[in-house]
Order: sequence, then structure tokens, then C-alpha cells
Amino acid sequence: MQNRFIDEQEAQPTAWFASGGYQKVISEVRPRLAEMMGANATDVVFLDDASSGLNAVLRSLPWQPRDVLLLTTAAYAVLPNTGAWLKRRYNIQIVQVEVSFPASGPESFLDPLEQTLRQLPRPCRLRLAVFDHVSSYPPAILPVSRLAKMVKAWFPDALVLLDGAHALGQVPIELGQLEQAGVDAYVTDGHKWLMAPKGSGALWASRSVQDILEPAIISSDNSPETTFQKRFDYIGTRDYSSWCAMGAALDFRRMLGGEVRLQRYTSELAKWAGQMMAEAFGTETVVPVSICSKFIESEISLTDPACAGFIAEGLIQNYSMLVISFGLHTNSSTDA
Ligand SMILES: Cc1ncc(COP(=O)(O)O)c(C=O)c1O
Repeated sequence: MQNRFIDEQEAQPTAWFASGGYQKVISEVRPRLAEMMGANATDVVFLDDASSGLNAVLRSLPWQPRDVLLLTTAAYAVLPNTGAWLKRRYNIQIVQVEVSFPASGPESFLDPLEQTLRQLPRPCRLRLAVFDHVSSYPPAILPVSRLAKMVKAWFPDALVLLDGAHALGQVPIELGQLEQAGVDAYVTDGHKWLMAPKGSGALWASRSVQDILEPAIISSDNSPETTFQKRFDYIGTRDYSSWCAMGAALDFRRMLGGEVRLQRYTSELAKWAGQMMAEAFGTETVVPVSICSKFIESEISLTDPACAGFIAEGLIQNYSMLVISFGLHTNSSTDA
């Protein structure tokens, strides 16, 4: 399907980039995507990937020296990296919520957040708190509504951004409820669990913050009065076929049985596989099944961390199976 869009683009580039071309296609995909995310289509824009959405939000905020950016230690590297740039540029402070694995449940995230918020020196301008909806490694589904509510209870003026790169197609996303809990912006990827082509993602933003958000690239179509969606809909002459093809991914998933069925199937499969492996290795899964994502995760006890790399290498070469190893119980000698 993506190739069909590319053919159309190359056959008539002028028509494709003028209204009636890719704009028409994305105007049809957007409400479907928004519906899947429990959002209004007017609040959703397309992205090339989650990284560009996280950058757009982090770099759009009017940071002042000493403002606080709150991240967790489980955050994907884009966040601390962009945070480090903000620190150099604006002299902000980065505070990390220490989350440790194995996790026992939602309290493994809520308790350290509460402790961190309690310990922040006063007065404190907490400008932005960012949480994964589904962390990448170790993988877990975070109690995002409760985390957002807690931030807003302590710091009503802070904004909350969720990194949902791994959420779309993996877990239900209910942006109406999340907004009520205090979430201001949400970034997700289409090229992970939705099975859309690489270069597809989405950003949802509550109306109260849309005016301040700029895409990572400010294009020729983005003059000062340009509205939220239009600012993101054109970010230069590039291939927008991945955004267009998100509709085909949604069709495909519907053909496979729809979101509820698909997500239940993959979730049960991952839980089964995680427990099966934990039993085989005589260990535990890294998070309890109640917050387990669709990544399969279980502990393997290794005395030499180099073994982890060796096993991962063999699995990818022989079975095309990606294994990411990370250390647990880091104060013990079996850190692999
Ligand atoms: C939690 C999380 N956030 C953000 C990203 C960045 O996604 P992308 O490379 O599609 O921008 C990833 C990538 O794996 C991720 O795992």
C-alpha cells in the first residue's frame, strides 16, 4: 500500500504535495487513528517517529533557568539526551525518579515518584514530567493515569508528557481518560506494534498546550499564525507515504480480528512465554503479569555478563529473535 502512495507521489509530485494529494489521505487516516487512541481527531498530528514527537514537546516549552524536567531512570535515551541539551542551553535541572526492577506492581513506580516529588526543594518550578506508557527495557506497563494525577496533585502547573512509543497496538490508549488524569501530551509510534511502515507516529496534545508546540522541523508552511495541525502536517518536501499507509495498517489489524482480539492474543502469548521461560530457567519474570507488556521478559541467572551478549548474538543469527539484555540485582555478582 505504501508503494502505491509512493507511485502516486512520483507520478504527480505537484498534485501530491498540493491539497488533494497526501493531505487528503491523512485527513481520512487521522480520525481512525484518533478513534483508536480515544482522542478527538482535531488534537492528533502525524510524526515521523516518537523521537521527533518527544523532541517537539521538550524543545517547545519556554524553559527558564532552574526549571525542573522530571524523568524516570527507565526513560528511553532520547529523553535524557534531549534533557542534557536543554540543560546546556537553558540551565534547567533534570531530576530522575529511581525505578528499579524487578518491579512488584504499580507501586514500584508510584512510591518512588511520590518520594521524589516530596523531596524536591521548594520553591520548585517543575515544568515537565515524562513517563513511559510502556517502557522499552525492562518492559512494563506503567500506571500512567495515577502517575499523572500524582504530579498534578503536587505541582498543578507542571505538564505531563507520556512516551507511548510502544503503546499503539500493544495496549489500549484512552486519551480522554488520560487527559482527565492530567496528561497534556502523548507521543506514539506506528512502526512498532501497529505494524505501519517506518516513519509513522502520532502526537496528541490537549488544547491547552497546542499553541506552544512546534514540530521538530519548522517548515516553509509554518508562519506564525499557522494552526497546530497545519504546523505538523507539512515539515518540508519529503516522503509522507508512511503516514498515509497507517490506514492500511489499521485495515490489516481489523482483518485480523480487531484491536481487542489482537491485543488479547499477543498479551496472553507474551505472558505465557514469559512464565514458561522463567520456569525453565528457575527464575522470575521481571515484572508481574498484571503489568507485563508484550515483550517477553524473564530473568536468566548468569555469572558472566559477556554470556548475555553471546546468547543474544546466537538468537538473532539463528532465529531472528531480538534479545535485549539488562542487569538486574546490580549489587549482586550475577549482573547480566
Ligand atoms: C520507550 C521508547 N521511546 C521512544 C523511542 C524512540 O522511537 P523511534 O526510534 O521510533 O523514534 C523508543 C524506541 O525504541 C522507545 O523504546
